[in-house]
Amino acid sequence: MKNILNAQWIKSPKVAVDREVVFSKEFKVEKEVVSASLEATALGVYLARINGERVGDFIFSPGWTSYKHRLQVDTYDVTEMIKDKNTITLGVAPGWKASNYFGRHWGDRQLGFNELAAICALTLEYADGETEIITSGGDWKCENGKNVYSNIYNGYIYSSAYKDISPSQALVFEKDRNILIDRQGEKVVEQERLSPKEIIITPKGETVLDFGQNLTGYVEFKIKGSKGERAVISHAEVLDAEGNFYTANLRGAKAQAVFVCDGKEHIHKAEYNFYGFRYIRLENWSDEVKKENFTAIVVHSDLKRTGSFECSDERVNKLFSNIIWGQKGNFLDVPTDCPQRDERLGWTGDAQVFVKAASYNYDVERFFIKWLADLRADQTGWGTIPHVIPAVFGPDDDSSAAWADAVTICPWQIYLTYANKALIEESLESMKKYLEFIETHSRNGIWSNSWHFGDWLNLDGSSPEDCSKGTEKNLIATAYYIYSSEIYAKALALCGEDNAEVLEKREKSILAFRREYMADGRIKPEYTTQTACVLAVHFGISDDIAETAKQLNELVTECGHLKTGFVGTPYLLHALSDNGYAKTAYDLLLREEYPSWLFSVKMGATTIWEHWDSMREDGSMWDTSMNSFNHYAYGSVADWLYGDAAGIKIDESKPAFEHIVFAPLTDGRLTYVKASIETRKGLVKSEWKTENSNTEYEFTVPEGATATVILDGKSTEIGAGVHKF
Ligand code: BGC
Repeated sequence: MKNILNAQWIKSPKVAVDREVVFSKEFKVEKEVVSASLEATALGVYLARINGERVGDFIFSPGWTSYKHRLQVDTYDVTEMIKDKNTITLGVAPGWKASNYFGRHWGDRQLGFNELAAICALTLEYADGETEIITSGGDWKCENGKNVYSNIYNGYIYSSAYKDISPSQALVFEKDRNILIDRQGEKVVEQERLSPKEIIITPKGETVLDFGQNLTGYVEFKIKGSKGERAVISHAEVLDAEGNFYTANLRGAKAQAVFVCDGKEHIHKAEYNFYGFRYIRLENWSDEVKKENFTAIVVHSDLKRTGSFECSDERVNKLFSNIIWGQKGNFLDVPTDCPQRDERLGWTGDAQVFVKAASYNYDVERFFIKWLADLRADQTGWGTIPHVIPAVFGPDDDSSAAWADAVTICPWQIYLTYANKALIEESLESMKKYLEFIETHSRNGIWSNSWHFGDWLNLDGSSPEDCSKGTEKNLIATAYYIYSSEIYAKALALCGEDNAEVLEKREKSILAFRREYMADGRIKPEYTTQTACVLAVHFGISDDIAETAKQLNELVTECGHLKTGFVGTPYLLHALSDNGYAKTAYDLLLREEYPSWLFSVKMGATTIWEHWDSMREDGSMWDTSMNSFNHYAYGSVADWLYGDAAGIKIDESKPAFEHIVFAPLTDGRLTYVKASIETRKGLVKSEWKTENSNTEYEFTVPEGATATVILDGKSTEIGAGVHKF
């Protein structure tokens, strides 16, 4: 970033709400250009063009950050695009910054609502050594664009014949340039393209196209129509029990693309909007509906795929594919809860639950570096972490356990997977402030004085209105305090700082937890739930882990299924299989009746659902108040598939797979498992196959790494190469 700091912020002199504004400037070049670079950003989302041609392949730039503190600037090499006579345009639409009613479900706060603005600098370097800088300012033209309506939840209206009849000069205004930073996160770009699988006429007579995959993106379509016709595309994730188009779960999000025809043929796609969908419905469509005229374009952050998993059970493979699609759908610049309804927010709890699996599936180092910088920027002065980051709800007085703990869990996992120590150094202060906040809200070692989401969506207390009943909230909160303190203590040690006091406070809390919630190594009857046992085991809180794990195993086998929500689910299988109950863990994994991971697979899911029963056996749905079919949280089970079914584990003392522990867990119901992770060291692979009750293992260790293989309780050290056992 250099010359943009000398440019001026510009906006429209008209009130421009929920629509596109286009800023432009014509300029001539009279000398030979050796290099040209454009720096640009906007309040809203922008697309830059030079002489009508798109600059770069970024979409939804400048991405979503804590705009109060940080706004990313993109820099593009545009040398090849400059001619003698040029027009540069910057189209800006509301996006996350300026959409009316953004975050609407949370009390109609019109959170992001604001006017659109842009700032940019084009630097031209000439062969004669001179430099010319063209910056945004009052000499730029400003007009309304063809996206006559654009809103992050509702979608857009594109009027192909629209022309602003009264363009004007842009209005210069004062705004802090200190918020400008160089792009820190991955760019968001178009990824794969999917053709419709089927054209359906529903019982209601609707014309619906099925793309066969729930995804995040938009549809490109060919359209002619007749002049003035408003063709409407609506988006949906599922069809209802009768086979009709179902949008009730989108709540207030209209999620439509409206194209106003001019009678000429167009190939069109969204410029500033995205949707979560598998099906589209066409209305006012006078053209013949042909599959080849529609393509779904998947969009997400440009992450490199690193992980793979396959086994002999096709249902588990489908589950894994659904997890990958859940990540694609929700890693669009920010880790979101869901991509479809009027929410699409950076929920901290969801992100921390999934970060480990996410970091094996894809290279998410840079993605999380950016999001965690926003998390630190939005942390309040009193140490709390807002429920969603970027914090569009404004500062929250409270931090919910297991949500706010993203402040410790996420950086620590990024450190473990990629050995990024700098991120830990940057995070120390925020971890400290957060733990201090908890301490001021604790009594005798129990975090007892805050509001919490609890074991969100568990099945212990269940009625649809009661997502957070079940496991005692202070028990969960204290367990997370203990866990976050452990991470903070490790982080301090890593940075060469003293952690004695942190460990001492942690120890006190452990004793308090045992006193309050446990007796004889078991969770006391009045507090007993699967999640309570999972936390006491997995966070090492119990003084008799074997006994608590036994209690957990009894609970699961007695009822025959899981009952855990967001808090217990990510660790449930680990807590079982780490303590000798691998068979029970596999029972849960391979179960396909409700509630289970494979239930949704049996029901034809192509992504991970928010609820264990987002859709029921008879096709009826969970309450419309909160029902997403693309919520990655329960996809956290992928970290058990990599780490236990295939047995690829990180050694915390040598992170980023410099030393690997291979400890696969076989099960008679599977004949083979293979998984691999493209790590910073190279490809790590684990495979096993069983034939005639004989199991063969093969482990791949990359150059520069070593590994310990643990099979039947015996350890063997191995070096780089492919090893068979
Ligand atoms: C979101 C979640 C989130 C939760 C908070 C929901 O509306 O979709 O995934 O974590 O609220 O409990």
